[in-house]
Amino acid sequence: MADSPRHARLSGLGAYRPSVVVPNSAIVGRIDSSDEWVQQRSGIRERRWSAPEETVRHMAVEAGRQALERAGLEPAQIDCVIVATVSHFQQLPALATLVAHDLGTEQPAAFDISAACAGFCHGVALAADLVRGGSSRHVLVIGVERLSEFTDPDDRGTAFIFADGAGAAVVSPSDVPAIGPVVWGSDGSQADLIAQREDWRDVVASDEPRMPYLTMQGSAVFRWASFAMAKVGLEALERAGIGVDELDCFVPHQANNRITDAMARAMHLPERVRIARDVVEQGNTSAASIPLALDRMYADGDAAPGDRALLIAFGSGLAYAAQVVVLP
Ligand code: COA
Repeated sequence: MADSPRHARLSGLGAYRPSVVVPNSAIVGRIDSSDEWVQQRSGIRERRWSAPEETVRHMAVEAGRQALERAGLEPAQIDCVIVATVSHFQQLPALATLVAHDLGTEQPAAFDISAACAGFCHGVALAADLVRGGSSRHVLVIGVERLSEFTDPDDRGTAFIFADGAGAAVVSPSDVPAIGPVVWGSDGSQADLIAQREDWRDVVASDEPRMPYLTMQGSAVFRWASFAMAKVGLEALERAGIGVDELDCFVPHQANNRITDAMARAMHLPERVRIARDVVEQGNTSAASIPLALDRMYADGDAAPGDRALLIAFGSGLAYAAQVVVLP
């Protein structure tokens, strides 16, 4: 039997930002809030929402195509596609199968995963293990969300937070370790903190057509993310065998700048570590937020090939996953 590669790496990244720019001023009227309040509590100035033709399928394909191009791979070389999403509102087939087809791949393994805002880091962890184990050679991981459809515009606790977009990464074999061990977990006892408001079947059984929007207990999520996630980040660094002094970039899930600040403080990150702040102009795009944040860091000169980045994602479930990666 042939040997499996010993290591995995990110070989290309892609991003898709949908076209509709929505400033705070367009949101706050319905929720009796203000631009100042939203910026002060979350850091968000504006977000991107998708136009009708910018479906999750469309956004995922565009981000995936860019990641493939940047990895220097042909679609036929991809033998597995993993899509992380909670906003593909069709139970079957999996979005990944449609995206794989649109990209011109040759019938790879393709499946969706549901880990909410932690989806992208779960996908990268799975992909790295598939490559290291020899099940796949090049895996395309995509995080995509269209949360504008799933967010109640009249809910003061969520209307200003969630947004749309897609990000992607290709995971490939490597001679040296470039995706560190994942630190991940979940806490279903706190499932109510971020959840779908009602069961689809209750919606179908009712006379009133409506979307079973997501709901969130913001303060409890804030406390959990600010304190518990710093420990997870430090553990991921330890498992990768590096200290905070050797880190170049910190790329947490783009939930809220105050959560990011609290984590950075608790981890004692040195000043020189560049920190992702994509949430300011993109909002919280759940499974897409980390690759989108990386995309902006490259564009702003805050990330470069060879940098060591700590990725940490967390959200509904309460599911989380973190790993250190060497940037492509
Ligand atoms: N605009 C203006 N005021 C608001 C408001 C809004 N959108 N939402 C709540 N308030 C008010 C409340 O009425 C309350 O007023 P009071 O003190 O007079 O009673 C006050 O602000 C505090 O309410 P609270 O719900 O405790 O807000 P908060 O300080 O926890 O801030 C969030 C709310 C959503 C910004 C904050 O909890 C948060 O960022 N949570 C994490 C969310 C997140 O990132 N989730 C994604 C994880 S995947």
